[in-house]
Parts: sequence; structure tokens; C-alpha cells
Amino acid sequence: MGMTSRQFDTLRDLIYKSLGLFFEDAKIDFMDKRVEKRMAALGMNRAEDYVFHLRFLDADGREMQALANLVTTNETYMFREFEQLQAFADHCLPEAIERREKSGLRRLRIWSAGCSSGEEAYSLAVILREVMHDVDDWDIRIYATDIDNERLEMARRGIYGPYAVREVPDAYAAGHLIPAGLESWRIHPDTAKLVEVRHMNLMDRAATRTMRDMDFVFCRNVLIYFDDTSRKSVVDQFYSCLSPGGFLYLGHSESVSRISTAFKIRRLGPHLVYCKEA
Ligand SMILES: C[S@@+](CC[C@H](N)C(=O)[O-])C[C@H]1O[C@@H](n2cnc3c(N)ncnc32)[C@H](O)[C@@H]1O
Repeated sequence: MGMTSRQFDTLRDLIYKSLGLFFEDAKIDFMDKRVEKRMAALGMNRAEDYVFHLRFLDADGREMQALANLVTTNETYMFREFEQLQAFADHCLPEAIERREKSGLRRLRIWSAGCSSGEEAYSLAVILREVMHDVDDWDIRIYATDIDNERLEMARRGIYGPYAVREVPDAYAAGHLIPAGLESWRIHPDTAKLVEVRHMNLMDRAATRTMRDMDFVFCRNVLIYFDDTSRKSVVDQFYSCLSPGGFLYLGHSESVSRISTAFKIRRLGPHLVYCKEA
């Protein structure tokens, strides 16, 4: 198709304002291919018609949603960044349990923000069931949210192929993954019931404000696609969503120290975790 650099600039601005994702100039061919798919779906021949449609005729955001499904990077698998999850299980989770026990409220809230097809949220559910032997006596919710509604459908189904489950330790696989046909596994219903899947745009303040009193926010491998301004706005929201003593986990290549000084940094082995002081 070959969109012009001006059309690319307009699209990039619209996507940035709506989703917080920033696409560099070198991404023009990537964008071109995604837009081509959307134009075919809409029966359009000219890129300028598509840009016009997205800019002026998309009041309900339906086309931006369809484009978001195509331009987001959804790579994920269960037990990704295993050591970080181990540090969560060994240090921060017991601390949160103790804090909640002391307050007399057996309640834990965890948010997997940018969960893609749900593998991160279900990994956390497996850990909770393994670490907390009285887990059924607690009020627990793991919110799995993302902008991509096709990935969220996969998260709701909770059925995964070999790539997604390859890092699940054997000791956990037996109790939490049920064979569901050729080369696929379903998350055990007792584990899956801890997870609630919701559509949420991290740039939508009205929506993120509803996430209150979180013990943990996991937002791993999401903010790398944002620029500093949108990253800061999302991290500030996370700070408000966390309860005092709550923790924010980012991917191992990500850091908030440049954009926020509100969190106290804790080093757990090779990983950093960001803590809202109690
Ligand atoms: C690479 S995946 C990370 C999945 C998982 N957290 C992990 O570490 O394996 C990034 C996810 O962020 C989501 N995302 C990007 N921008 C978003 C936004 N503005 N609101 C919500 N989710 C967003 C994408 O749809 C994608 O599924």
C-alpha cells in the first residue's frame, strides 16, 4: 500500500493519545501492513480514507480497538521471568499475607495489568494455591486486564498450547494443568477461579481508578512500548491503586526510577521491586 510519512504521523499520534503506545519512524512498514488488513476488512482502497475514518468517524472507538488488536505485542508464557516470580512467592507474598492477617482482613488483590492472553495471571494463581495452604479461606482476586480483546478471549478460555506452558515446573503442572485435547492444557478450575478477566485500557483513568487497594500490581513487558510521558502517567496511577505496603513488579528491563520517586526500591536478588511505603 505504502502510506505516506504524513499519514503515518497522524496514525501514530492517534494511537499514542488513545493507547499510550509510541511507534518510532522505523515502524512505518509494520504500521502499513496492519493498516492494510484493516482497510481490507473495511473495504477501503486508500490509506487517506482509513486515516480519515479513524480520526473523524470513530466516535465509539471501535476501529481503534480493531487496530489495537493488530499493533500490540502480545508475547507471553506461563512463569515468564521465573526468578522474579520466585522472589514474589518467597518474600513479598508472605509479607502481604502477614500484613493482611494483622489487619484482620483475609483479602488479597492482585492486578496483572497488560496480561495479554492471561498466562501471567494464571501463573500467579498457581503460586497462590501452592504457597497458601488455606487459600480457600481467603477472599482473593487476580484481575487480568488488557486492551486487546482477542487476547482477552484466550485468557477467558484458559486453554494453552505447549509454548505457553513449557516453563511450568513439573511439580505444579500436575495439579494445575488438565490435558484438554492434542497438545493443549486447561487451567484447573480451582486455580482459574481466582482470576477475573477484564478489558481495560491503561490510559483510561476513569477505568484504572476503579482498581483500589491492590496488594500487588504486575505490569511486566508492557511499559517498554510506551514513552516516558505515558509511562509516568500509568505508573502514577499504579501508585494510587496500591494499598500502603503494596508492590509493583515490572519486567526485568524496565525501571521506574527515572520517572517516579514515589516508590521505595527493594532489591531481591537480581530483581527490583517497587514498594509503596506503609
Ligand atoms: C508483551 S505483552 C506482556 C504480557 C505479560 N505481562 C508478560 O509479561 O508476559 C504486552 C501487553 O500489553 C498490552 N497493552 C499495550 N498497551 C496497552 C494499554 N494501553 N492498555 C492495556 N494493555 C495494553 C498489549 O495488548 C499486550 O498484550
